[in-house]
Parts: sequence; C-alpha cells; structure tokens
Amino acid sequence: MQTIHVDHVSKAFGSLNVLEEVDITIPQGEFAAIVGPSGCGKSTVLRMIAGLDYPTGGKITASEQPIQKPDPSRMLIFQEHALYPWRTVEYNVGFGLELAGISKKERTAQVDAILAKVGLDGFQKYYPHQLSGGMRQRASIARALVMDPEVLLLDEPFGALDAITKISMQNELLRLWEGTGKTVLLITHDIDEAIYLADTIYVMSPRPGRIVESISIDTPRPRNRNAAEFAAQRERIMKHLDLSHH
Ligand SMILES: Nc1ncnc2c1ncn2[C@@H]1O[C@H](COP(=O)(O)OP(=O)(O)OP(=O)(O)O)[C@@H](O)[C@H]1O
Ligand SMILES: [Mg+2]
Repeated sequence: MQTIHVDHVSKAFGSLNVLEEVDITIPQGEFAAIVGPSGCGKSTVLRMIAGLDYPTGGKITASEQPIQKPDPSRMLIFQEHALYPWRTVEYNVGFGLELAGISKKERTAQVDAILAKVGLDGFQKYYPHQLSGGMRQRASIARALVMDPEVLLLDEPFGALDAITKISMQNELLRLWEGTGKTVLLITHDIDEAIYLADTIYVMSPRPGRIVESISIDTPRPRNRNAAEFAAQRERIMKHLDLSHH
C-alpha cells in the first residue's frame, strides 16, 4: 500500500508555468480531493503521480520511491473516457487483466463482477458507441477498478454523468474504497462531491496552480449534503476559490 508525496513540485510546459511549489501528502488509505479552476494544473498533477509526465522542479514519491513510470498499482481514470472504440465493453474492461496474464475464465468472472458493480451487467458484448455517455464513463471506471489498484487517481470521473447516476456512483466509489486501505486522489469541479467523499480537500489557485488551502473533512460518513456543517464547509471552499458573494 502506498503513501503519495508531492514535494515542492513545479511544472512548466516551455515558458508556461503551470504548477508552482505544490505540496500534497496523501497517507496510505486516505481519500483526498483537489478542487480548483479550469486550467490550474489539476490533471497535470494527476498525470505526474500516474508516471505519465515529470515535474520540472521538486519530486513525487510513492512510499518514498520516486515515481518514474506508470505502474499497475496506480490506476488513472482519465477526464475523458478512453475506451477502444473497436472493442467490446468486456474486452476493454478485461484488457489490463489479460496483459497481467490472468486466464480467460478468471478474467470473465472479474469483469462480470465489476460490471455489475457499476451497473453495466448485460452490456459485456456492446461496443462503446452503443452505450450512453454515462455508461461509457462507467465502463472506463470499471476498467481501472478491475485491476484492484493500491492507488486510484480519478480525473473528474463523474463530470459527464447525470445528477442521479452521479450520486449513485459516488456511493459506489465509497463502498469500493472503505476498509480497503486504497489511497485515492479525486479531481473534481464539484465542491459538494469533494465534501461528500474526501478526508482532505486541496484547493488550488488559478494557473500557475498552487495549493491555497488544505481542508480536513472529519464529518463521519455517510455525510448529509443538507447539513449545516456541510454548508459551512462548502462556503469555506467557495471563499478560497473566490466564488462566495461579496
Ligand atoms: N502536454 C502539454 N503541453 C503543453 N501545455 C500543457 C500540456 N498539458 C497541459 N498543458 C497546459 O497546462 C495547463 C494546465 O492543464 P491541466 O490539464 O492540468 O488543467 P486542469 O486544471 O486539469 O484543467 P480542467 O479543469 O479544465 O481540466 C493548461 O494551461 C494547459 O494548456
Ligand atoms: Mg483537467
């Protein structure tokens, strides 16, 4: 199991400074979230933790080891689903298991179980274009979950889902995470989603992205979105994002 350290990380793309001195520590088993304005560098942070890109300053480690390349123990769920359009749901979700050398029989069992969890039972033989947008996103979530990673990196996984599916997927994610010791980092535009799910919320500034505040949410789960405490937490985050009414 892994503790993630983002240690004084800066990132520039040419002359564009995207991140400045970002510090994030996610202890093993914690559910962390990042909220921040569009373009502030959230996906860039996640891609670097996934080993898909590198900091220009500072370092990123998993349990003290520098992250140098992607690893199946750390799964990234992309902001836009990335299914192979010419492959069935079953193949897309089982592909990682196949690469890992899991037998067809075992693969089918694991794929079927995870598809049932994300509400896609019966859609094994469908192609991505035959699914709704929300179903495609759920298939892409299933593809990461089926690998049973130690670290789950989620880039706005529920952004494109309708309000009803979104709430049920948030609950499903909590169910899949609680008691597993998995480390989770969720990026979201949805402040309520962050408060509903996370132990710690990092609020980022506009680009160049910095952490302006980290907020611990100690409210026991399941959390009530209509509670006064929840509203106070929302207000606090909106203030940091400069969104509260002046
Ligand atoms: N590979 C790249 N090459 C050049 N610039 C990049 C690259 N990837 C990201 N950027 C730039 O870095 C900045 C941050 O991008 P990033 O995708 O991390 O933002 P974000 O916070 O995830 O935004 P959003 O909320 O809209 O998804 C943007 O200005 C983007 O143009
Ligand atoms: Mg992004």
